[in-house]
Amino acid sequence: MDKADVSARVWAHILGIRNGTGCPCCGDWTPAERAALAIYAPLARRDMGPVTIGQIGQSLDGRVATVAGDARDISGPDGLKHLHRLRAIADAVVIGVRTALHDSPRLTVRLCEGHNPARVVIDPRGRLPNDAPVFMDNGVRRIVLQHVDTARPAGVEVVRLPAAAGGSMSPRHILRALHAAGLNTVLVEGGGITVSRFFQAGLLTRLHIAVAPLLIGGGPQGFHTPNPVALLSDATRPDTRVFNIGSDILFDCGLASAQNIVSAPWHGVARQNT
Ligand SMILES: NC(=O)c1ccc[n+]([C@@H]2O[C@H](COP(=O)([O-])OP(=O)(O)OC[C@H]3O[C@@H](n4cnc5c(N)ncnc54)[C@H](OP(=O)(O)O)[C@@H]3O)[C@@H](O)[C@H]2O)c1
Repeated sequence: MDKADVSARVWAHILGIRNGTGCPCCGDWTPAERAALAIYAPLARRDMGPVTIGQIGQSLDGRVATVAGDARDISGPDGLKHLHRLRAIADAVVIGVRTALHDSPRLTVRLCEGHNPARVVIDPRGRLPNDAPVFMDNGVRRIVLQHVDTARPAGVEVVRLPAAAGGSMSPRHILRALHAAGLNTVLVEGGGITVSRFFQAGLLTRLHIAVAPLLIGGGPQGFHTPNPVALLSDATRPDTRVFNIGSDILFDCGLASAQNIVSAPWHGVARQNT
């Protein structure tokens, strides 16, 4: 496992790559800084096509909240910083309506330098009230993807999508709508249902699971699909890199569609330095 050090100069370099001013290859870095570059730099690039990242912060026993709904904060301080860095890299951050209702997240970048991403909520049935924090105007785009014709506050972009009988909207249609809106680097931040639907549709480039050392004993699971495999031989075994990010351990999983970024110059760099 590589220790990742997101030093100030590494983060400035990554933001430069994100903004198209930084060179992705150059620099004299420590091994731990190289590990940090291996995590973030491929995601920050804008010249290798759209990227979709799923992120889950969970306990050792795979929970993302308690039975009573307490979800703040399962991740340790470095897991939270990691989440904010992903937000700063992304063009848009996507959540499901249950997270919007339970957690009222602001989805802003507060624990590192960087711009706030557009906020996107998937709310097929229009359940989220119009005074929800996710709709608050703080200068970034706010988008709701819904099936129904619910009116939304001025400035909130409404994308209406068809839904199947159970209310499910195609993650592929969702992603296509975001790309059409110019949002190509997409962070699917939760909850588990939403991340899992993007995974099942084969749309995640990478899945980041940050594990914090606490045991909860019950509560909602992070990753879960409606039709899990019966045999372990059928389980998905992603190409996974493991990083010590401080208070939490990051499992950085490359999925099938990640082929375009795994050939980037950082891939394997961290391993070469151990
Ligand atoms: N630790 C973490 O990383 C983390 C991050 C975020 C949230 N959380 C926790 O996770 C819990 C909430 O997560 P959750 O998994 O229960 O729900 P969720 O993923 O936040 O929201 C799921 C809901 O969003 C809508 N949705 C998502 N994708 C859809 C699609 N493709 N088509 C149609 N509708 C779609 C559906 O709304 P309808 O129900 O209206 O059909 C669905 O039931 C909370 O306890 C929260 O605190 C933890």
